[in-house]
Amino acid sequence: MSWQGKAEDTGHIEELGAVQGPSFSAKLKAHFRRFWWLHLIIFIACTLIIVLCLIYVAFPHISQHDIDKSTLTVQSLILSNPTPDSFHLVQTSVIGNDSPYHPDLDAFNASLSLDGRVPYAYIEIPAVHATAQATTVVDQDVTITDLDAFIEYNINVLQNEEVNLDVKGRTALHEMSFPTTNVDYNKTATMKGLNNLTGFSITDFTIQLIPEADGTNMLGTVNIPNPSVMTLSMGNVTFNNYIGNTTDPALYVGTTTLTNLTLVPGNNTIPMRSTVNQSLVLTQIVESYQNGMLPISIVGNSSVFDGQHLVYFEKALSSVTQHVTLDVGKALMEIGVNTSALGGGGALPPPPLLL
Ligand SMILES: *[C@@H]1O[C@H](CO)[C@@H](O)[C@H](O)[C@H]1NC(C)=O
Ligand SMILES: *[C@@H]1O[C@H](CO)[C@@H](O)[C@H](O)[C@H]1NC(C)=O
Ligand SMILES: *[C@@H]1O[C@H](CO)[C@@H](O)[C@H](O)[C@H]1NC(C)=O
Ligand SMILES: *[C@@H]1O[C@H](CO)[C@@H](O)[C@H](O)[C@H]1NC(C)=O
Ligand SMILES: *[C@@H]1O[C@H](CO)[C@@H](O)[C@H](O)[C@H]1NC(C)=O
Ligand SMILES: *[C@@H]1O[C@H](CO)[C@@H](O)[C@H](O)[C@H]1NC(C)=O
Ligand SMILES: *[C@@H]1O[C@H](CO)[C@@H](O)[C@H](O)[C@H]1NC(C)=O
Ligand SMILES: *[C@@H]1O[C@H](CO)[C@@H](O)[C@H](O)[C@H]1NC(C)=O
Ligand SMILES: *[C@@H]1O[C@H](CO)[C@@H](O)[C@H](O)[C@H]1NC(C)=O
Ligand SMILES: *[C@@H]1O[C@H](CO)[C@@H](O)[C@H](O)[C@H]1NC(C)=O
Repeated sequence: MSWQGKAEDTGHIEELGAVQGPSFSAKLKAHFRRFWWLHLIIFIACTLIIVLCLIYVAFPHISQHDIDKSTLTVQSLILSNPTPDSFHLVQTSVIGNDSPYHPDLDAFNASLSLDGRVPYAYIEIPAVHATAQATTVVDQDVTITDLDAFIEYNINVLQNEEVNLDVKGRTALHEMSFPTTNVDYNKTATMKGLNNLTGFSITDFTIQLIPEADGTNMLGTVNIPNPSVMTLSMGNVTFNNYIGNTTDPALYVGTTTLTNLTLVPGNNTIPMRSTVNQSLVLTQIVESYQNGMLPISIVGNSSVFDGQHLVYFEKALSSVTQHVTLDVGKALMEIGVNTSALGGGGALPPPPLLL
């Protein structure tokens, strides 16, 4: 049984093997002849799926990737007409785009914030053709939507060498005949800050024994370096002055006012008007600073524009202290007061003007 069966099987296999080759290809041809339409449909469907994936999945993905890779550089930022809850902004930025694609972005509403914090305002970024270096100019009145966030932003701008400005929004991107795709525009522009106004100095001053009508009895010039690209209108700014490295009320010696202060990038040379307690100055010179060199601590106090206090500048200005040393002995000598003769005894050092 089994032996017979085996012989039968072998024969059967040989028979099959003999016909398989030609008949398979023939069958295949026949199959294609019969079902060509099915294969065409499958081919078209596959092509469609690939093309649609490219257009609707890969293209938005590539677009988002290119947006994420693009850079944002703030070239200039001019803040003017400040009110307690708004300001006018003219901001010129450059969008850098390495990609071979130069898409068009629609205008969009973007939030401004500091280093990933809560936004302090929203601006309208104009439409842009994203070439390798595309310049955009925002020129609009901006409402401060979160005062605490804006205070924080100003404190950071004042105190730091660099700050990160986040610009976030969502916009439509158009590239050739691809369908419009929406992209997240999340960019961080690193900008130079005011670095604690390092280099702040009083370059000259004169003391007046008879005060002006508003009490001003010291006039001078301050130099404020602004290493940033920002122009800031801060209105009438006042500082509280103290004798020594202190903010002890007992050593409060008066206020300094910078009228219509607008800090521009670079060196700012600004006239200052001060009201000082001259009797305190004389007492301190006689008691503690016989050489006439008076160390002064200067702390921001108020920023008033058109009669309104700008809390966001006040909080920032009052967060840093400037230290200067004034040659008060020499200034007094110029108006005929010899502080050495007042009883100090210490000889007046000759030239070094001031710091
Ligand atoms: C911008 O977006 C913010 C938050 O979504 C919204 O409050 C504000 O009204 C928008 N501004 C404009 C001009 O659409
Ligand atoms: C600026 O001054 C603040 C407060 O005095 C200080 O914390 C900060 O480190 C200073 N910033 C720089 C860049 O020196
Ligand atoms: C952009 O920021 C928004 C809001 O913070 C966030 O929802 C979105 O996921 C971010 N998109 C990208 C691509 O980082
Ligand atoms: C002022 O005093 C503080 C500490 O009390 C010190 O760290 C700082 O260096 C002093 N500044 C000057 C200019 O003397
Ligand atoms: C300050 O600015 C106001 C208007 O912003 C102007 O009327 C005024 O004359 C200016 N004062 C000085 C001293 O420049
Ligand atoms: C700014 O002024 C200071 C002092 O007058 C000077 O040493 C410095 O070189 C000036 N800087 C610029 C950029 O003009
Ligand atoms: C000036 O300082 C003296 C202390 O030396 C003080 O008694 C006097 O009240 C101060 N004057 C003013 C106007 O603050
Ligand atoms: C300004 O100075 C006054 C006292 O001279 C003080 O009461 C006030 O708190 C100061 N404001 C700021 C923002 O430092
Ligand atoms: C600054 O004060 C002066 C004199 O009080 C005033 O004429 C001017 O309008 C003030 N400036 C601003 C910007 O408010
Ligand atoms: C100032 O007074 C001292 C001590 O009385 C005296 O030695 C010095 O010559 C005086 N200087 C001037 C310029 O009068």
